[in-house]
Amino acid sequence: MAYNLLKGKKGIIFGALNDASIAWKVAEKAHEEGAEIVLTNTPMALRMGELDKLAEKINAKIIPADASNVEDLENLLKESMAHFGGQIDFILHSIGMSLNVRKKRPYDDLNYDYMMKTLDISAISFHKLLQSARKLDAIVEWGSVVALTYIAAQRTFYGYNEMAEAKSMLESIARSFGYIYGRDKKIRVNTISQSPTLTTAGQGIKGLTDLLDFSERMSPLGNASAEDCADYCTVMFSDLTRKVTMQNLFNDGGFSNVGMSWRAMNVYSTSLDDLKSNINKIID
Ligand SMILES: NC(=O)c1ccc[n+]([C@@H]2O[C@H](COP(=O)([O-])OP(=O)(O)OC[C@H]3O[C@@H](n4cnc5c(N)ncnc54)[C@H](O)[C@@H]3O)[C@@H](O)[C@H]2O)c1
Repeated sequence: MAYNLLKGKKGIIFGALNDASIAWKVAEKAHEEGAEIVLTNTPMALRMGELDKLAEKINAKIIPADASNVEDLENLLKESMAHFGGQIDFILHSIGMSLNVRKKRPYDDLNYDYMMKTLDISAISFHKLLQSARKLDAIVEWGSVVALTYIAAQRTFYGYNEMAEAKSMLESIARSFGYIYGRDKKIRVNTISQSPTLTTAGQGIKGLTDLLDFSERMSPLGNASAEDCADYCTVMFSDLTRKVTMQNLFNDGGFSNVGMSWRAMNVYSTSLDDLKSNINKIID
């Protein structure tokens, strides 16, 4: 059901690669709620992905940009304003990439050139985007900028590797820039911390299937899907959240505040008993 929450609003959405991408679902939802959209991704992702299909479906313009390149970002913002005939109301940063994960380098054997690239693409790109937008006065007063993050920024999740550092930095940028942008232009900057989700980037997380099962059992409401994330982003882009800024907002079915759930405890104790009887050994 649509509520026209974004009627007349114009937004840029980064990071839709295929129909599993969270950004893809956000773009569909924002369109359904009345927004006009510019879609963007790297030239390589545009060649490999299926963004054309989405653009056609929601009548969006595609403007290529590597989010780690300031010139590309400035061009994207200028072209988007020309296309919309004015300033932008909302932006979604839905970008993540770890070179060390891709190259299967474990956390205690990182390649630091790769790590710098990971931080640049996954976190500093958010600063570059905000700084470019502010210099070009590209975002309307009371506009909203959201980036997607993960709870590994606060707590260690084995296998998330250097992306934990990238997400910590991303969330910090939202706070630091959120202060400046809020004070000067009444622009909101927030991060949404999403449940593990089966997407191309998600599959890079070591043991994602088990992690999905674990967090599903730990969360009283169950994992949040990409569609749930799209709903939350829509509210954050709307006028209903005008005083929410500099926050890291959990969209995770309650996972972040649970220590141990009954459902997870059951699985843990059952398999521990199996293990004990199988190997006939006490494990503590
Ligand atoms: N999938 C999960 O479990 C999960 C959980 C929490 C947060 N997130 C975050 O959600 C966001 C979206 O990821 P997703 O899960 O939808 O996966 P995805 O693979 O569909 O999206 C990642 C996107 O980043 C883009 N990208 C990579 N390098 C780029 C660059 N230099 N410039 C511009 N774009 C670039 C990719 O082309 C891709 O479209 C990421 O920030 C991710 O960390 C994902």
